[in-house]
Amino acid sequence: MENKYIIALDQGTTSTRSILFDEEGNIVKISQKELTQHYPQSGWVEHDPEEIFQHQKETLHELFETSEIHPSKIKAIGITNQRETTVVWDKNTGVPIYNAIVWLDNRTKMFCGNLKSEKLDQYIQENTGLVLDAYFSATKVHWILNNVSGAKDKAEAGDLLFGTIDSWLIYKFTNGKRHVTDHTNASRTLLYNCKKLQWDDYLLSVFDIPKSMLPVVQSSSSNFGSIEIQDVSIPIYGVAGDQQAALFGQGGFEKGIAKNTYGTGCFMLLNTGTNFIKSTHGLLTTIACSIEEEEIQYALEGSIFIGGASIQWLRDQMKLISEAKQTEAICNSIEPLEDVYVVPAFAGLGAPHWDGQAKGAIYGLTLDTGKEHIIKATVEALAYQTMDVLKAMEQDGKIALKKLLVDGGASENGYLMQFQADILNVLVDKPKMIEVTALGAALLAGIKARVWTKMDIQKLRNNDVIYAPSMEAKQRNNKIAGWQDAISRTKTTR
Ligand code: G3P
Repeated sequence: MENKYIIALDQGTTSTRSILFDEEGNIVKISQKELTQHYPQSGWVEHDPEEIFQHQKETLHELFETSEIHPSKIKAIGITNQRETTVVWDKNTGVPIYNAIVWLDNRTKMFCGNLKSEKLDQYIQENTGLVLDAYFSATKVHWILNNVSGAKDKAEAGDLLFGTIDSWLIYKFTNGKRHVTDHTNASRTLLYNCKKLQWDDYLLSVFDIPKSMLPVVQSSSSNFGSIEIQDVSIPIYGVAGDQQAALFGQGGFEKGIAKNTYGTGCFMLLNTGTNFIKSTHGLLTTIACSIEEEEIQYALEGSIFIGGASIQWLRDQMKLISEAKQTEAICNSIEPLEDVYVVPAFAGLGAPHWDGQAKGAIYGLTLDTGKEHIIKATVEALAYQTMDVLKAMEQDGKIALKKLLVDGGASENGYLMQFQADILNVLVDKPKMIEVTALGAALLAGIKARVWTKMDIQKLRNNDVIYAPSMEAKQRNNKIAGWQDAISRTKTTR
């Protein structure tokens, strides 16, 4: 029988990867490159779109350099990407007119503050499922058009194109033939009407963005064009924003399934089926996935801006550790914390608090507080932030979650996962193969290529590690009360 393979291109905030899967969902090969982060001013975060494309191309080609597998064996490619990050390029030259403005960048927070009105907030939530925040693409596009010399005129003349990273990569890989995106990425722009499933003319006029700049929106599992490798044309059959891809890769295409990914940020998504549920607890409504000839599925999302990024902060800025994986042993080496809390509001606070002005803080310091305590409190903050989101989700979704599926780099930290189960008082379930984001993108592509069906996910994603809660209720409640106090002292809007 012929061997079949699927490739996932996973373009994340800090790295760019290409991953080769076999038909059983095993990883055959991974190629990866770190992405340069640019911080031109406080609160600004940029990437070089050309570097992103080069790295994606190089890692993809590396998959074939030392392996026996010929490109003709690849049935399809799936793309998954950091969401919201915004690229604007010249349609005639294919050259970006500014760096990519990254999702974490909050240069437009004042603009968002000035635009805010009850009517607009309501319209945005009702139609896009989002909140008016610098996190999403719309105000980033607006900033580029109004700050890059000549951009506004070019945009009005129809000479500029906008895309999230998926769109940019496809445009480059297809030599400008396809300007497309998928429903999940479109749903993060603040310009897409997630009920009518079309770009929203009213919001385009609010943000003053010509419609001609926008990509065509397709189902996440559909034909997005093809990539040439060694004269073989391989179809791109799957595209999804990384958090939606992770939900899909966790088998979360059924109502009631929730996952949390511990990446640069932490992103929890709960599949709410075909219902667009409006949050009353500070969550986002977003498109979970779309497959041709099936109804669109929605999700509630809690986006926490700083997750694993706070561990990088311990390493790179505070120099308290030399590598992230040291944190597990350090957490286990000291007694439970009494009252030390780190609130990593380094990019403001996301869901469910949405306080763009908040700054990070440490509470409960005494003369015997050592660096181990700060490290442990930083790790525990990931679990507390996740708890805030999960509680909001249970209230909005009117369900009591029994199990949380987890993935992402920090889910490898056994201390954190046990603490997460203890603080939530629910089971935490980690698949042995934690590359579920890439697996989700591969699965979307594999469905269209008829290599897999949705139901194959259970055999592709197996061998879970389960963490069961074991903390006493009194201790849990005290800890939670301390965290809530720390959050309320950090917020600028109380
Ligand atoms: O919304 C931002 C998110 O997509 C970024 O994910 O994995 O690159 O941190 P990640």
